[in-house]
Order: sequence, then C-alpha cells, then structure tokens
Amino acid sequence: MSIRTVITGTGRYLPPKVVSNFDLEKIMNTTDDWIVQRSGIRTRRYAEDGVGSMTLGLEAAKAALEDARCAPADIDFIVAATLSPDHYFPGIGVEIQAALGCGPIGALDVRAQCSGFIYALSVADQFIRAGTYKKILVVASEVQSHNLDYSDAGRDMAVLFGDGAGAVVCEPSTDGSGHALLSTHLFGDGRFSKILSLDVPSSKKNPTYTPEIFDQKLYYPRMDGKRVFINAVERMPEAVRTALTANGLTIDDVRWLIPHQANDRISLMVAQNLKIPVEKVVRNIEKYGNTTAASIPIALDETVKAGLLKADDIVILTAFGSGFTWASAALRW
Ligand code: UT7
Repeated sequence: MSIRTVITGTGRYLPPKVVSNFDLEKIMNTTDDWIVQRSGIRTRRYAEDGVGSMTLGLEAAKAALEDARCAPADIDFIVAATLSPDHYFPGIGVEIQAALGCGPIGALDVRAQCSGFIYALSVADQFIRAGTYKKILVVASEVQSHNLDYSDAGRDMAVLFGDGAGAVVCEPSTDGSGHALLSTHLFGDGRFSKILSLDVPSSKKNPTYTPEIFDQKLYYPRMDGKRVFINAVERMPEAVRTALTANGLTIDDVRWLIPHQANDRISLMVAQNLKIPVEKVVRNIEKYGNTTAASIPIALDETVKAGLLKADDIVILTAFGSGFTWASAALRW
C-alpha cells in the first residue's frame, strides 16, 4: 500500500488575556452590537506585550507533540505558518525548532496568510508521501493584536482579529490506519494582493523607513472588507467541492466542515452555498475572533478534544485570505 499522511497529534494555545467587545468599546469607536451583528465575535484573546507568534506556536507545538506521544528529538522537519513572525526575518519555524530542542532539522515558514495552515499541511503531506520525513510538526501561530489600527480608519479590521496558535504532528501510514489526510488543494490569485495587505516594511522602498510611513500609518494592515467577503463566500465552497470530487465524496458524506474562522456570516454563507447543515460546521469565532492561519488547527484541536470526531468521519477544511489565497483539505478521521 502506498504511503499516506496521518495526523497523530493535535494541539492549541490561546493566550490567557480575554478581550471582549465591551473592552474594545472603551478604546475605540465601536459597539458590541455592531461587532456581533457583522461578525459573530464576542471575545478574542490578546498576547501580552513581549509575547509573539513564536511563543504561542511553541506552546501549541508542545501540546501537539504530547498528544502524539512524540519527543522533540523525534521531529525531523517543521513547517510553520504565520503572517506575524517575531522578526521580519528569520521566520518562526527555526525559532520553534530551537526552543523545542529539536536537532538541526529543516524548518521553514509558509506565507499564505489565512490559508497558511492548509498550505503548510500540504507541504508536510508532500514530504511524508515522498518518504523524505517521518515526523513533521506543522504549526500555525499569529499575534495580530500588537499591530492593528484601533482608530476609525482601521476599526473594521481591529475588531476582527485575535491571537492564538494550533499545531498538528504528521506521520506516514502504510496500512490504512490512523487519521488520514486524503488530499489538499491550493489556490491563489495575486491580482488581488492589495485588497488585504500590510505594505511596510517593503523591500521596494529605499530607504525602507520614511516620515511618510509614520505620518500615513502605512505600518498597519488594510483591507477592503467587502471584496474579501464576496470572494471568500465563493472561493471556499469551490475549494470544498474540489476536495469532495477528488475523493469521490458528496457533501452528505461530510461529518464536519471546518472553515477558516474569518467572520461567522462568511461561515454561514459557505454552509448555505454547500447545502450542508449548519450543525456540521465548526464555529468558534465567537470566542477567539479571526486568528488567521491558526484558526483551523485551533478549531480542529477543539473538535478532537471535545470527542466530536469519530473513526472514519470525513472532515473538510477550507480557508480564504490575503493574497488572495484559498485552499481545502479532506481528512478521514
Ligand atoms: O480572514 C480573512 C480576512 N478578512 C475577512 O474575512 C473580512 C471579510 N469582511 C468582513 O468580515 C466584513 O466586510 C467586515 C466585518 C469587515 C465589515 O462588515 P460590512 O458589513 O462589510 O461593513 P462595512 O465595511 O460596509 O461598514 C459598514 C459601516 C461603515 O459605516 P458607514 O460608512 O455605513 O457610515 C463603517 O465605517 O460600519 C462602519 N464600521 C464600524 N462601525 C462600528 C466599520 N467598522 C466598524 C466597527 N464598529 N468596528
């Protein structure tokens, strides 16, 4: 039998500081009503000053390794996904490798924003099925709260995002046992790169930092929320259908759909488009907001740890975000 990737452990870490919509009302021009109606979010977690995505990712990684009964020394490759690394370079993959105390193994960062976890999973899947590596840590981690514009100009984004991390351990299986990754499907369209982006620092600028950057607050991310919304509710169902077709499945075969938690209205519209009962859609954005690349592995780990995944359940993951990038993955648990 050919090699198939299986998920042998999952983990998550959310920083302890809970920030409610009412807390945001005190620091910016917004209301709990607006945020709940437009996004479904009630609270999110914020990392403390001095804590970056490496630290959150490390904690999620430790939880996934423990779940997989795997020591750091056993890991032979790391794929990290983040748009909010501790440093412009290097990425967090190598920093997590060092902090875990792994050997001098390869570690890379994937930059696919909200689709980052599925992209990272896909990279791991290729290495496992090629026989190159036997235990790969895939970790997605984000700290966005430290660089959001809490003024009126950025409030549409500021209320959406939260911090957090999720991780999985991937290994090969040749006997058909285990929680199988059936396929991954990756898409992108860079013509829309400016619709959701953070433009500074930029290698185009010489010098990189100018007074204009600070005057115009170009160091904050910006998005055209409506265009992101419209594309997300089209592309995610398309990606799900691609995953179903690739595996000879129909939507009725799906036990759980885990969409990237971008906005609860987006998740509900994706469900409606696919004609999947909303009870089969994992939705935790109310608690954590949009944690970018981390949202899917956090939701997956919560679903697993709540005992909601049974043997042979079909689980479909799908994401959409900046780039634009979008993606899907099919699992048979
Ligand atoms: O992970 C992928 C990343 N991003 C996304 O998935 C985001 C996708 N987009 C969205 O989720 C929605 O577009 C938003 C939640 C960002 C915005 O919802 P919307 O229904 O598209 O609202 P809008 O941008 O059309 O804004 C409506 C009004 C505006 O006021 P006026 O011009 O009608 O007077 C905004 O200025 O709401 C105002 N507004 C706010 N009001 C209170 C925007 N942000 C806020 C806010 N609090 N935080």
